[in-house]
Amino acid sequence: MAKRKILHMITPSDNVSPFDVNMAVDAGYEVIVPHSAVAVSSVADFVQDAIFSRPPKSASATGMFIGGYDVNQASDMLDAAKKAMVPPFEVSVFADPNGAFTTAAALVAVIEKCLKKHAAKPLQDIRLRILGGGPVGLSTAVLATQRGASVCLVRLTPRADDGAALEFAERYELTIESLRALEQSDKINVAADAEVIVSTAKAGIEVLNQEVLDHASNLLVAADVNAVPPTGIEGVEVTHNGNDVAASWGSFKSIGALGVGRVKYQTQAQMLKSMLTSEDSLVLGLAEAYSEAVRHA
Ligand SMILES: NC(=O)c1ccc[n+]([C@@H]2O[C@H](COP(=O)([O-])OP(=O)(O)OC[C@H]3O[C@@H](n4cnc5c(N)ncnc54)[C@H](OP(=O)(O)O)[C@@H]3O)[C@@H](O)[C@H]2O)c1
Repeated sequence: MAKRKILHMITPSDNVSPFDVNMAVDAGYEVIVPHSAVAVSSVADFVQDAIFSRPPKSASATGMFIGGYDVNQASDMLDAAKKAMVPPFEVSVFADPNGAFTTAAALVAVIEKCLKKHAAKPLQDIRLRILGGGPVGLSTAVLATQRGASVCLVRLTPRADDGAALEFAERYELTIESLRALEQSDKINVAADAEVIVSTAKAGIEVLNQEVLDHASNLLVAADVNAVPPTGIEGVEVTHNGNDVAASWGSFKSIGALGVGRVKYQTQAQMLKSMLTSEDSLVLGLAEAYSEAVRHA
């Protein structure tokens, strides 16, 4: 009899994400087991407890999903899981903390497509400003820098954690420029030379308004991932997907949360499905999310 498809969802947080549970069931997992408050140091035991209960070379029957909020913690967990495999006893593992890896992957892929279509430019050397250094912002900064963009991570709160950003960039052997923009005048300075502006700020907060956009005379594309009103950038509506938005100097292309969200959804769904069908064990993180996202942008 075919083994039932089990997904162990592990998180350092108090609960696994209902969004991720729904995505896993819709992808085809039959049994979902949530494990909360899991420490990085416990991950190897979790993996080895799972791999030896099922025949060797049956990676598709058992999966592990790593959630939580912290991109560094999730990356440590993914590394620990990978090291814990005892071939041919293996499971597939997918890390997507706070949905950040798949969201950032979708965001970068959609921006690249928009730049190519409307400005005939690659991301290479584009001056890209990312507003908000949460999980999505940090993941976007890494992917865009890897794609050759000239990235500046713009921190929005006085308490912003530069250590986490530094640590995450170092994992990819990158240095990412960052600055703080707490006042309107700081944002105007940031926008002045930007070619692409991305808001990855907390949901339901407008972080950039029309006055700032009116100073952004080099702007080609603005994108926002926040689907909760008000949107993060004034004039960038959730349904936008390459729409024109006017500013005092002309217009720019606009990408809203649903434009990004459609690609994020397809990316995550396909990555879960690939775990269910691959005969080999898969280790899926930020890089794999980007490779998948470009197929759906
Ligand atoms: N469209 C999609 O498919 C999708 C999927 C997942 C997430 N999202 C959205 O992506 C966005 C980012 O999510 P996230 O998980 O990375 O992080 P988050 O916890 O929502 O916060 C992101 C950043 O927002 C800034 N921030 C926090 N409080 C603020 C305030 N009061 N005023 C201004 N800025 C504030 C901070 O930036 P600093 O650290 O720089 O100070 C924080 O790190 C959210 O809007 C979320 O809803 C969208």
